[in-house]
Amino acid sequence: MNIAAISGSLKSASTNINILKAIAALAPEHVHIAMVAGLEKLPHFSPDIETGDELVNDFRKRIGKADGVIFSTPEYAFGIPGSLKNALDWLVSSGELNEKPIAAISASPLYSGGDKALASLLLTLTALGTRFDAQSSISIGNIKNKMSPDGTITDVATIQALQSLLTNLMERISKP
Ligand SMILES: Cc1cc2nc3c(=O)[nH]c(=O)nc-3n(C[C@H](O)[C@H](O)[C@H](O)COP(=O)(O)O)c2cc1C
Repeated sequence: MNIAAISGSLKSASTNINILKAIAALAPEHVHIAMVAGLEKLPHFSPDIETGDELVNDFRKRIGKADGVIFSTPEYAFGIPGSLKNALDWLVSSGELNEKPIAAISASPLYSGGDKALASLLLTLTALGTRFDAQSSISIGNIKNKMSPDGTITDVATIQALQSLLTNLMERISKP
């Protein structure tokens, strides 16, 4: 089983990237979770250049061949970061996310956990035809106090929530 992981944050010491790494570490042996990075290198989406360039085609291929996709994103000004929205816009007409099982996470140092970004992300993922249910998404508040300085998640309840999210995604991939 191949799962693509996409961080909405481009920051090198991103809490969201560390969350995705923590999920990858929880995965059983037959499940391979690969980070799809470089969203900042994709050109700005324009319908005039909808066929895309090499980077866009490579991004579309990586998403297309994944059995499922996990997103983890911060909230920027009550929405999802522009680079993540731009990347998703490139997938609208080409359809790689259509019928694809997904899981979505938002994380923030604030107690709200980036819940408005998560709601916005799920709306966009609905428009793209992805498959998810009520157990497919979580927002994690107070994230800085749930990680050690090196980015390891130390909060047991958060680790359990990530494990449940991954189990739910694997089940939906296995039983379409
Ligand atoms: C431009 C900008 C806007 C932000 N807006 C919000 C916001 O609306 N809500 C929120 O909870 N956090 C906001 N934050 C704080 C982020 O949640 C915080 O920086 C978080 O750690 C980013 O995730 P990362 O570590 O994965 O990069 C904002 C941060 C930046 C840089």
